[in-house]
Amino acid sequence: VVSLKGKDFLTLMDISTEDIHYLLTLAAQLKEKQLVGQSYTPLVGKTLAMIFEKPSTRTRVSFEVGMIQLGGSALYLNSNDLQLGRGETIADTARVLSQYVDAIMIRTFAHSKIEELAQYATIPVINGLTDDDHPCQALADLLTIYEVKKMFKGLKLAYVGDGNNVAHALMIAAAKVGMDCTIACPSGYEPKEEYVNAAVQIGKQSGATIAVTHDPIEAVADADVIYTDVWTSMGQEQESEQRLTVFQPFQVNDELLKHAKPDYMFLHCLPAHRGEEVAADVIDGPNSYVFQQAGNRLHVQKAILVSLL
Ligand code: CP
Ligand code: NVA
Repeated sequence: VVSLKGKDFLTLMDISTEDIHYLLTLAAQLKEKQLVGQSYTPLVGKTLAMIFEKPSTRTRVSFEVGMIQLGGSALYLNSNDLQLGRGETIADTARVLSQYVDAIMIRTFAHSKIEELAQYATIPVINGLTDDDHPCQALADLLTIYEVKKMFKGLKLAYVGDGNNVAHALMIAAAKVGMDCTIACPSGYEPKEEYVNAAVQIGKQSGATIAVTHDPIEAVADADVIYTDVWTSMGQEQESEQRLTVFQPFQVNDELLKHAKPDYMFLHCLPAHRGEEVAADVIDGPNSYVFQQAGNRLHVQKAILVSLL
């Protein structure tokens, strides 16, 4: 799609529904190519810089492998090894890297940092997770839901847990494709108003109902997709003890899932903590698609890379 070429990929709020469907279709095609062993190398000579200020397994490996499979290369840059870690500004880093590489993927803390990077970079900037958003994850989640349920409209997605990055991205993703979405979180852990308001507005166009509740049963009632994420996100480690208590009623377990549709699918962005946000028999059970979901990160990100570069 012409409209994605050269663009940043910071949040799904900026990506049209048409472009989301285009990316999902392209990801499915790239997945098929890989399954049959057909090589596709449109990014020969292209380099992706990957800056990580937080740990990562899926995002790091899938972006790096994705670039290699598309014929390009990727640089893993730990922020502590960059001058960024010694106080060089984001703006200067952006202006320098823009002359060496073709795109920058960054995982960082404050969302404002990625916006600043994108402002000063003359090349596409991709969000590999901020405190507020995780658009690549949400796109992989949509692909997985579509593979299993073959539709979006008419489905209900229930996210049970912390209303932060993954929940934000999912609400927007669901709203864009017309899927109903309810977030259930403890009081004080709601998604940001900016994301809720945006999702509600987008949902008005697409026909999706977006809701936030403090009642996990209400969220899960008749849901087709149940999603959760860790109770303590990266950077919040000092709050983990308190979070363990506050989030206890929000554990996704068989008791809660009695309220879901019998053919519900369970998703989790991973990494997971069995016995905390999800019971082991749920994440390891027959309704869990978490590894198909993790696998889809690769295909979705290849679609993003091909479209932006
Ligand atoms: N889901 C996800 O982004 O995983 P990583 O933290 O391993 O990249
Ligand atoms: N909410 C989690 C997601 C990890 C992929 C975190 O921010 O740590």
